[in-house]
Amino acid sequence: MSSSRIACAALRSKVMSAEHAAAMIRSGSTVGMSGFTGSGYPKAVPLALAARIEREHAAGRPFQLRVWTGASTGPELDGALARANGIEFRLPYNSDPTARDKINRGEMDYFDMHLSQVAPMAWQGFLGPLDTAVVEVTGIRADGSLIPSSSVGNNKTWLDRASQVILEVNRWQNPALEGMHDIYYGTALPPHRIPIPIVKSSDRIGEATFRCDPAKIVAIVETEAPDRNLPFDAPDATAHAIAGHLIAFFRHEVAKGRLPLSLLPIQSGVGNIANAVLTGLVDSPFEALTAYTEVIQDGMLDLIKAGKLTIASATAFSLSPNAAAEVNADMARFRDRMILRPQEISNHPEVIRRLGCIAMNGLIEADIYGNVNSTHIMGSRIQNGIGGSGDFARNGYISVFMTPSTAKGGAISAIVPQASHVDHINQDVQVLVTEQGLADLRGLSPKQRARLIIANCAHPDYRDALADYFERARRQSYGQQTPTLLAEALSWHQRYVETGTMKR
Ligand code: COA
Repeated sequence: MSSSRIACAALRSKVMSAEHAAAMIRSGSTVGMSGFTGSGYPKAVPLALAARIEREHAAGRPFQLRVWTGASTGPELDGALARANGIEFRLPYNSDPTARDKINRGEMDYFDMHLSQVAPMAWQGFLGPLDTAVVEVTGIRADGSLIPSSSVGNNKTWLDRASQVILEVNRWQNPALEGMHDIYYGTALPPHRIPIPIVKSSDRIGEATFRCDPAKIVAIVETEAPDRNLPFDAPDATAHAIAGHLIAFFRHEVAKGRLPLSLLPIQSGVGNIANAVLTGLVDSPFEALTAYTEVIQDGMLDLIKAGKLTIASATAFSLSPNAAAEVNADMARFRDRMILRPQEISNHPEVIRRLGCIAMNGLIEADIYGNVNSTHIMGSRIQNGIGGSGDFARNGYISVFMTPSTAKGGAISAIVPQASHVDHINQDVQVLVTEQGLADLRGLSPKQRARLIIANCAHPDYRDALADYFERARRQSYGQQTPTLLAEALSWHQRYVETGTMKR
């Protein structure tokens, strides 16, 4: 018995169980799944697939998949498939702990890539063919077009590129989502590219639904399952301090005439600190803010409710359970203030540069010259991935990175002589903020940057050791543009690996 969410009569005959749908996916094939953070990922077929993989393995038959997604997803997808040892290759971003362990044990290959580049690269053919798309939707219109759910991610590309399509129609998703999305069909490969016609965060340039060739739809599974919305921690003193430094910096930039009172479209990374910054903007003097970002999180909702944020453009929701309930209860009102786009557009370098976004992202560690590591612990263990941070950091009007000044109870300094892995070169890092203070690095030479970062951002427990390293490097380094003691630069990390602390 199919629901009223499937208005296309011809497609109702495709409704089946998740188990039957999962049986259509071959071992060794590539599957493009929907999902971006905890939103809009398929919730039934991956679980059925994981159960099938476990049965195949128990019978001694190998069964693994190549899995592409929008970004991180939920435990029913990455967690279940990784636990079943069912993923041989994964792209483009993962934050699932089971999958992370597999990657770090060398049991799963992971291509961590800029989120804006996934769809273009799939079209270019560099990633190989896409066999199956498994995409959650809110409903199917009478004309067969698909109403997207709470994330858009790479779904347009998966639906276009896959040989066969499996849909999950999730009744839990609010039908009032219809009309919030902006699916742009104007992208092309060089030499046929044309400008993306977005000049304001609020511009709509596409369609409200996905197109999909009905002949490719082999299965439709009906679900009624919630997104995985995780609560945010209440901002602690560290998060408040970071938010305070950043907001003081914005006030200063407005006073200097380098930013308007409405600032510029804000991009905010995921996590508690980013959320605390957004919440901090509620009580700030800035008005008529806009966001051109990757995910809509609680802080943006607070800004919309306070009348401070006029539009939030993103590719997905990433809300706490309370905030998700609030948006769901009043979707028609929020729909006018929110746009969900494909991630190749939400993160498009051309648009980010044109709009002049203020990029604000977290980091794992930064070195005294301002090179930033967003992804690797001790140079070799992946934490999550670069996500959209590179798309925004390279192309934003101001690129901010923020972090507590220490990790692991103070055993690790987030400011180190040399980053053990670099995702964002110092040219893409303009402002560094910790709870200790803010370093505005624009226009500074490497040595000027080092002095400022050590003085303003490093934790007092590590400041003298960093200053000592820098002064000795100034005397003994092979060159003086970026003074470095080659034998010592990564010794802080080595000490942590050997002793459990970077402290001497
Ligand atoms: N050395 C070792 N471990 C560190 C560390 C460091 N310098 N800094 C942080 N960590 C550890 C933390 O201890 C924590 O470990 P745990 O999970 O075992 O407790 C983990 O890394 C996450 O750190 P946390 O302080 O909780 O930070 P967060 O949730 O703000 O995440 C990033 C920080 C960098 C991991 C996160 O922002 C990220 O994945 N960024 C890359 C993608 C991105 O920027 N996306 C947004 C673009 S739109």
